[in-house]
Amino acid sequence: MQTLPTTAQAAPAGHGFDLILERSHLRLPVAPCESIADVLLLAGVAVETLCEQGVCGTCVTRWTAGEPDHRDSCLSPEEQRTHVAVCCARCHSPTLTLDL
Ligand code: FES
Repeated sequence: MQTLPTTAQAAPAGHGFDLILERSHLRLPVAPCESIADVLLLAGVAVETLCEQGVCGTCVTRWTAGEPDHRDSCLSPEEQRTHVAVCCARCHSPTLTLDL
């Protein structure tokens, strides 16, 4: 059984995936070397960040589909069912849909 990392520094970025912005009707590729927050900012989507390490919760965003790879230490397991810290999260599935 695979153990999932719990912090942004715990594991390498891994593979890329596509980000789907539900309300903006955008599909954005996230390369292994990029964070979701970086991709959102490059696309002109406003997202606030502060610690960029999954600690402060500033970047937390609601997700609606996909299988997030949570790497933060600010969200409870209950909160992770609906929200993701976009500064450090990756994705186990080919796509991750955000409520943006
Ligand atoms: Fe602090 Fe993402 S910017 S948790």
